[in-house]
Amino acid sequence: MSTVTDYTADTAIGQPLDRVDGRPKVTGGARYTAETALPGLTHAVLVGARVPSGRITTIDTGEAEAADGVLAVLTHANLPKIAAQPPLVPSLAGAAAPGETFFPMQDDTVHYAGQHVAVVIADTYERALYAAHLVKISYAESESVTVLDQARDQAYEPEAIFGGFVPGRVERGDVRAGLEKAEIQLEATYTFAANHHNAIETSATTAQWDGDQLTLHDATQGVTATQHTVAALLGIPHSKIRVIGHYVGGSFGGKAMVWHHSALAALAARHVGRPVRLALTREQMFTSCGHREEQEQQITLGADHDGRLTALRHHKLSPTSHFDHWAEPSLGVAERMYACDNYEGVYRLIRANTMTPTFMRCPGEATGLFALECAMDELAERLSRDPLDLRLRNFAEVDPSTGNPWSSHGLKECYQRGAERFGWERRAHPPVRDGNWMIGLGMAASAYPVYPPSNPQRARARVYADGTAVVQAAVSDFGTGVTTAMTQVAAEALGLPVEQVRFEGGDTDLPNVAAAVGSSGAGMISAAVHSAAIALRDQLIAQALADPGSPLHGAAPDAVILRGGRMVLRDRPDSGESYAEMLRRNFQPDAEASGAWSPPGRDAPYGMLTFGAQFAEVAVDPGLGLVRVRRMTGAFAPGRVLNAKTARSQLMGGMLWGLSQALLEASVMEARTGRWANASLGEYLVPVNADAPEVEVELVEVTDSVVNPLGVKGVGEIGQAGAAAAIANAVHHATGRRIRQLPITIESLL
Ligand code: MOS
Repeated sequence: MSTVTDYTADTAIGQPLDRVDGRPKVTGGARYTAETALPGLTHAVLVGARVPSGRITTIDTGEAEAADGVLAVLTHANLPKIAAQPPLVPSLAGAAAPGETFFPMQDDTVHYAGQHVAVVIADTYERALYAAHLVKISYAESESVTVLDQARDQAYEPEAIFGGFVPGRVERGDVRAGLEKAEIQLEATYTFAANHHNAIETSATTAQWDGDQLTLHDATQGVTATQHTVAALLGIPHSKIRVIGHYVGGSFGGKAMVWHHSALAALAARHVGRPVRLALTREQMFTSCGHREEQEQQITLGADHDGRLTALRHHKLSPTSHFDHWAEPSLGVAERMYACDNYEGVYRLIRANTMTPTFMRCPGEATGLFALECAMDELAERLSRDPLDLRLRNFAEVDPSTGNPWSSHGLKECYQRGAERFGWERRAHPPVRDGNWMIGLGMAASAYPVYPPSNPQRARARVYADGTAVVQAAVSDFGTGVTTAMTQVAAEALGLPVEQVRFEGGDTDLPNVAAAVGSSGAGMISAAVHSAAIALRDQLIAQALADPGSPLHGAAPDAVILRGGRMVLRDRPDSGESYAEMLRRNFQPDAEASGAWSPPGRDAPYGMLTFGAQFAEVAVDPGLGLVRVRRMTGAFAPGRVLNAKTARSQLMGGMLWGLSQALLEASVMEARTGRWANASLGEYLVPVNADAPEVEVELVEVTDSVVNPLGVKGVGEIGQAGAAAAIANAVHHATGRRIRQLPITIESLL
């Protein structure tokens, strides 16, 4: 049957539709994981190790076990051993995705402070929390390393990082020769504080067993990732585990991997024979779900007098855990940003007594592009060139890492339209003062990869005889707006008004999709949803053509289009009938179809990046060391925009994360104790509305026929890429001070 493509009359995709889950979220109707109410529910509280390294010598659980309401205390002495530790694989792969290859409470070893060493289960949360304080543990503490400064000399070069997906060293051309022939050389080191995600909803899992069938309610970026990971750890078939997560209160990568508490909740529930809710405290969020690692990046640029790059060397040094070679892939996008024949990128790690770092929004690009884009600003200054002009001079016509063409681009348009909207030409004039404030303008390039998932993505669509439709896929909406966007994708493909379409996700009983990470959610889920909805539409049109009772009976398939919620003849819009009319006439309660999308392989011969350009205006009070961002403009080319409002919100949110990275966020490791010193929302600074300047988002249209059927490249993270560099470059423009350390603090400016 031919494909009907003319449904533009009912164009739902791209509309700035309000979030379909907005009302339940703001009225409290949305039920989050830790609010799951079950008969006989019990509560688990985790106890964390108080030393960063060593062994547990004794655990005395007697007093805790005797406390009111306590059902059990689990420690390494009585917790059942895990069946197998799955390898660390990023959650996009559709397989088990443990956050680290260490599982706690298997023996008496302590690798990091906060590591789970006991689980207390009681009939109320308060009683479990109280009893958790009664567990008495003594340790034989050994030497620990928790910050780079303690162990620079112990750095090693890993073969691969990021769950084995990224090589530890990449070389292209001859970086030495490129530096030798350079007329200008520039070397700079950039340092970054560790960061924690701090989603407002702390992570939680509620576990319930029914015989050998396990149901988990889990705050996760991927219900399937939880299902596979817990199945592997417990040694049960994944078909025996159902994972539900309808509402997730933010994640930013902190719920992308599956952390120990999810499996511990299941083990605890099996142990006490009752459902268990395990919710982490805010403080525990700093030692239970990974973090963006502290890091140091060194950039060496070689260029000719015209500013053309002859060499780029990019080295990164960061602490990882004692068991995984993890670093966020900071070098990947920076390698591909500019045309440069001679490149060398190297990751070096030191073993530290922290948990394995993990994805955090814009994982790698946020730091790697900070280093590169600040270095480019320094190079522009040395050459007395406009920073934007320098970037255009090094524009990459093809993907420099492979020589492949880009799947789509739009970077030049982002530079141009961003600069126009921001008023970049004013940068040519000397910086101005506004009272005590010195005003400066800065810019940076922005890019983020398009990561195709590695397995087929599936969805299901059903139309009911009452005229409504439901479309389903096992995706988690952790605040991204995917539920709303998928409603629009399905509505447009089915030719139905969005009010008649409902999207359901967050349940492993629904068709399988990968965890939504790496800004891939909208692209991969829309492909599956589109495919299912098109299949259903074509099936229903075929039925109408063959149905003697239908006004469309006997028409040619390609004469039929969807218009106003009806199947009609292309040249007679008042003809035809709705799906519902046809189903009712035939006594059919509903009709259903499935669809799948097989993503392009990672070896597809295209460079797949989303591009953008960032501009910022800052005011610096040099006497007080204060920085205020006054304006930010971001121009991005994210491919097809599914919802103009939620896409813009995502991009603005990302840009504010960049502001936050530039000026506020720092997890402070107290090296003496090996503990995070500011593990609270009071002391870990994140921006509030009062910190937010005017943020402008300019969308540059590009068509991409490679990444996925609708050409969606993703908006979740690119807003952050380059934003901090634009701010730091503006600070330099205002003050002449190069701050190479994030966050930019008052002290660093005084
Ligand atoms: Mo996102 S930090 O890639 O889950």
